[in-house]
Amino acid sequence: MVGSAIRDRFPVFRDKIYVNSCSQGALSDAVRGAYEEYLDGWDENGAEWEHWVERSEAARAAFAGLLGAAPDDVAIQTSVSAAVSGLISALRFRDGRNRIVISENEFPTIGQIAHAQELRGAEIVHVEPDPEAYAAAIDERTALVASTLVSYRTGAVHDVESIYAIARAHGALMLVDGYQGIGAIPIEASRVGDAVVGGTVKYLLASAGLAFMALRPGLVEELVPVQTGWFADENVFDMQIERYRPHRSARRFDAGTPPVPNIYGGLAGMSLIEEAGTAAIEDHVAGLAGCLIDGLEELGAVVATPRDPARRGPLVCVRSTDVHALVETLAAERITCSERDANLRISLHLYNVEDDVDRVLDALRRNRRLLAH
Ligand SMILES: Cc1ncc(COP(=O)(O)O)c(C=O)c1O
Repeated sequence: MVGSAIRDRFPVFRDKIYVNSCSQGALSDAVRGAYEEYLDGWDENGAEWEHWVERSEAARAAFAGLLGAAPDDVAIQTSVSAAVSGLISALRFRDGRNRIVISENEFPTIGQIAHAQELRGAEIVHVEPDPEAYAAAIDERTALVASTLVSYRTGAVHDVESIYAIARAHGALMLVDGYQGIGAIPIEASRVGDAVVGGTVKYLLASAGLAFMALRPGLVEELVPVQTGWFADENVFDMQIERYRPHRSARRFDAGTPPVPNIYGGLAGMSLIEEAGTAAIEDHVAGLAGCLIDGLEELGAVVATPRDPARRGPLVCVRSTDVHALVETLAAERITCSERDANLRISLHLYNVEDDVDRVLDALRRNRRLLAH
């Protein structure tokens, strides 16, 4: 179910046009209900440890299902930052392999964590977000290559499969930040990278505090993180303090107590996505994004997102002369969007309909002076 068939489950649409899933997915009755269920369980039973561990495993399986991965290859995380810090803590930057290659489209946390590794001897190389530029920077000195899947700044979909092939050919690990894609476009983790990260805040329709890292099958044995915690132990219930004994699966990247409330919400959000199906969502969103781009071009606007449907996803970015004023003006018209750089970000998801696109275009026509031409 997509479009008007599911929209009623998201109360925000009663009085707003919500096209801001790139920042935060809209709240559904299901996610609200899941948080209430968590609170009721707390009231009735106090600490439901076993049930919480079971819910955490259910979240692992749900992420795995969305990524075409095995649950044993998926780590439960609280944020992409935690996931990437854990992954990088398993790299040693020795034997001449100390280079990290990242693109200018990476989310700040990727760049900042990469540069933090300079303290451990890493060298960071920034490249344009295309395979040729990556190819020029990746060589036998490269330990890690990072590419976003969908740029949070422009909406461009990176050619991660080509970049991954280059990384592999040089024995470098490839990290893909799938946050701006997961839930809106199908992702087969093992085709795009060695490690794929993302979380539930955006197109997975839940809240902050739950994220994932999916590892290529077999990779986990090669990675021994030094950022760790008791939930990463071979047996969390052993309560031992004698040694570091990382779990044989991707659970070695789990760290502390699982983020239980967020897991309740995350499972409910992911169920809505699973029921609709990411392929159906992708088709629906591609149609809406196409109409939006056509309309923007008719207005003479400068669209920062590629026109080619293969190179764009759910996010369409358009240049503004004063993007802050534009976001405020649209908010006053009860249209919720966001901004990055000088771009207005309009993002589409399963609950958006053509009328939303028409309403956004009408508002932009009336506020043309705030669009760059
Ligand atoms: C591409 C991308 N990566 C990562 C994040 C967030 O990272 P974290 O979960 O560490 O807050 C966002 C969200 O804002 C994002 O858009």
